[in-house]
Amino acid sequence: MDATAEEVRAKVRERYSIAASGRGGCQDDGCCAIGYSPAELEGIPVESVLGLGSGNPVRYAELRPGETVVDLGSGAGIDVFLASRLVGPAGHATGIDMTPTMVARATTASVSHGIRNTSFVLAPIEKLPLPDGHADVVLSNCVINLSPDKRAVFAEALRILKPGGRLVISDVVQERDLGPIEDDCGCVGNAMVRGEYLETIGHAGFSELRIVEDRPWRTGSGGIEASAVTLIARKPGTEVKM
Ligand SMILES: C[S@@+](CC[C@H](N)C(=O)[O-])C[C@H]1O[C@@H](n2cnc3c(N)ncnc32)[C@H](O)[C@@H]1O
Repeated sequence: MDATAEEVRAKVRERYSIAASGRGGCQDDGCCAIGYSPAELEGIPVESVLGLGSGNPVRYAELRPGETVVDLGSGAGIDVFLASRLVGPAGHATGIDMTPTMVARATTASVSHGIRNTSFVLAPIEKLPLPDGHADVVLSNCVINLSPDKRAVFAEALRILKPGGRLVISDVVQERDLGPIEDDCGCVGNAMVRGEYLETIGHAGFSELRIVEDRPWRTGSGGIEASAVTLIARKPGTEVKM
């Protein structure tokens, strides 16, 4: 029998509570890799770097000073801190995460490093506590694969983006339906098959989807079973400035 959405979330929360303590990072079991150069990481709180991502979406987001950014499943805050530096004091970056210890770790890091243009909010990414048209950019890094309701996540991302806003995400997709598999992290086991994943983004209302990075994530006897993709898509429209 399939686990219910709440069971999936409880398991994910339990898994990432351990990771928030600095133990049991995904890299320990070869599930997740980190895609940042030392230069990119210089100057951001070291406690935000847990090695839980599948790529580096900020690198492709072309963030500009003054922009508003939301990171779905922000963990200890690595991408929020990278984004906050690029959008500067006139901009803001918000991290959303459903694991209390992750939100606490990221908030403590922002306070202790005096980073004022960030905030971290405890919430599920399937129901964002943010108004319509709030963000210029929605980021996410190795998170949506864990969600039991990916359609809701993309619908919410579209809702909180301004017209013309960018979705820039790194995520894991299965290359064929792998069925129930052994996967401690959950990032492959809960992932969608590539074609269905890309279709789900399109059906949510995004356009101009393009993949900017694509690499093998898990390989089995039959070849590549899952890949890490980084993609950009846009909410149709143009922002009307008042
Ligand atoms: C693999 S970690 C990635 C963290 C961060 N993006 C990074 O790159 O370091 C997944 C994070 O997503 C959060 N998460 C997973 N499913 C979620 C959901 N449905 N709603 C909110 N947060 C979620 C977990 O609590 C965890 O912090």
